[in-house]
Amino acid sequence: MKAVILVGGEGTRLRPLTCNIPKSMVPIINRPFLEHMINHLKSHGIDDITLALCHLPDQIQSYFGDGSDFGVKLTYVIEDYPMGTAGAVKNVEQHLDETFFVFNGDIFTDLDFSAMMRSHRQMGAKVTIALTPVEDPTIYGVVETDAGGRLLRFVEKPSRDEAPSNMINAGTYIVEPDVLSHIPPRCFFTFERELFPLLLNIGDPIYGYPSNAYWIDIGTTEKYQKLHHDLLTRRVSRGFPGQRAGEGIWVEGDCDIHPSAQLKGPTVIGGNCVIDSGVQVKGPSVIGQGCHIGKDSLIEGAIVWHNTRLGQGVALRNCIIAEGIFIGDRSRVAEGCILGNNVVIGCDQSLTQGTRVWPPENRR
Ligand code: GDD
Ligand code: MG
Repeated sequence: MKAVILVGGEGTRLRPLTCNIPKSMVPIINRPFLEHMINHLKSHGIDDITLALCHLPDQIQSYFGDGSDFGVKLTYVIEDYPMGTAGAVKNVEQHLDETFFVFNGDIFTDLDFSAMMRSHRQMGAKVTIALTPVEDPTIYGVVETDAGGRLLRFVEKPSRDEAPSNMINAGTYIVEPDVLSHIPPRCFFTFERELFPLLLNIGDPIYGYPSNAYWIDIGTTEKYQKLHHDLLTRRVSRGFPGQRAGEGIWVEGDCDIHPSAQLKGPTVIGGNCVIDSGVQVKGPSVIGQGCHIGKDSLIEGAIVWHNTRLGQGVALRNCIIAEGIFIGDRSRVAEGCILGNNVVIGCDQSLTQGTRVWPPENRR
């Protein structure tokens, strides 16, 4: 089956993590977000995937190549300027000659795409929209459906008073190819504000597909942390990279872990890490590939990306430490802090709760 994944957004709400990498490449348990997504698509027979790219396309292309290492066929189409969610799909129209899926590129879900396809065909829908219930619908697209699931209204980011329900657009659609004729070529056009209202107006059948499957949009740093927590504590189930090396501990490839280091799960450690004597790691935590954790350091509830180096006696608590970072001896990073790529923190520093540090190359 065919799909388009929309991966053109800038991920502004994930900064400083996304200052110099696209949102779809942020690591989730040491693998790019998009890799998790592609694996899930593949498990439902969706293996012919077009990536609609705009912002920082090179990193995605060089990691995934033609997709064969991941068991899928990948085609890349790069927009000269952001065309909007529907404009981006129109732009790849030549690849879409059968019923296809469209995925927002920032959703982590357990949704049963095969069952959604069966429902789409059974209803004879032109478009089927996956729906999920949320507490605060105002930051999403909100729908109203009739008793049979047919869409009556779609409102993007309504105010509290205007929200017709708490069922929101989960960012997964099944679309019939003839729907593309309603999207003007080479124009900024979105599903949410333009196409869905237009289709409702002309009376095309759009159906909602509600489900209580695990669903999260990793658009903010809080949700990025929550997804890690949910994966590590098995609220949502996925395999972890590496081998089990104790209760709740996964270690990938060759690592040099000192026998006096204390590791408490759930914790995942990437390949080629060095963990010195007296280190304590308390889960739920993740340490990326090629990290060096200095003597007597403490990592508690932290997400550490690849190739980061901590000096001696460093303490990290419930924070996100991106790639290529250096933190000097005895420095402390408190809860909610986020350090962008290549940040350097000297010795004896104390970053207070919620501090965000931008990558050096983005501080202008
Ligand atoms: N190629 C391309 N070009 N992709 C784009 C563009 C574009 O111009 N604009 C956005 N995207 C991609 C983003 O990268 C993201 O994967 C997806 O489209 C949705 O954009 P977001 O910016 O993340 O939108 P949102 O989260 O505010 O709202 C959307 O998702 C909600 C669910 O998380 C809407 O679809 C809402 O209706 C929905 O409820
Ligand atoms: Mg989003």
